[in-house]
Amino acid sequence: MQPPDRERLRSYLGLLGLHRGDGVAAYDAAAEVYDGFARIWDDRIAAPALAHFNALVAQHMKPGANVLDAGAGTGERTRVLLRHGATAHVVALDGSQAMLALASGKLRDPRVAFVRGDVTRLPFPDNSFDLVASTWVVETLDDPRSAVREFVRVIKPEGIAIYAFCSLPEGRGGALLKRVIELAAPDSGPLSVLLPELERPFHQCEHSSLRQFFGGLTTVAVVAKCCVIEPAHLPCKLP
Ligand SMILES: C[S@@+](CC[C@H](N)C(=O)[O-])C[C@H]1O[C@@H](n2cnc3c(N)ncnc32)[C@H](O)[C@@H]1O
Repeated sequence: MQPPDRERLRSYLGLLGLHRGDGVAAYDAAAEVYDGFARIWDDRIAAPALAHFNALVAQHMKPGANVLDAGAGTGERTRVLLRHGATAHVVALDGSQAMLALASGKLRDPRVAFVRGDVTRLPFPDNSFDLVASTWVVETLDDPRSAVREFVRVIKPEGIAIYAFCSLPEGRGGALLKRVIELAAPDSGPLSVLLPELERPFHQCEHSSLRQFFGGLTTVAVVAKCCVIEPAHLPCKLP
């Protein structure tokens, strides 16, 4: 029997927020139950952000595109990338062997290569990909910008990186939102340690974009080759 929705949501938020810096070990341990936890997040709270993410992917996917799913997990987003890119080649990279094993079991598709690697030190040369996509990964890292810098490094000059992350807005909006979610999942301590606003990896220029959903709980960002990702110790203000 599945645990109740609140319990699954709480477990998922715990995975996103509690294990920063120890992300891969936590995901190795949670791989078998991950999809059950993630579904409630993806289908409910993150649904508008994922709809926007998918629309951006559809907009930017070129025929024959070389695509990286950075932090592919159990491959649910990889599946969507393949749907949008009928002729694309997708590298599904993750640090967790257990998550990748589940992904490769689900996606038996010759267009996908599964690679174990670190999103903060991607094992690819500069200018390798037309599109880098990443969902719910950068907020699990000690230094989210190190991953986004790598996304920018490995995209081609005309390429694009699209990544979604969650964070708790600061100020009254954040406090209200936290309360609402705590009511939905009563013991949701992990929310208080989700990525705070100033840590959000983002560079604003004519090619980049950022859209927030659910009062800023979820964000979808787009960065291009020109984007300079600032060092982690510098504040990164949102527009
Ligand atoms: C919340 S899951 C998201 C998975 C997938 N993108 C999704 O949307 O379902 C975060 C994933 O990031 C991976 N991860 C965390 N730190 C990583 C790192 N430094 N390098 C590669 N993968 C990492 C974890 O193993 C996990 O599979």
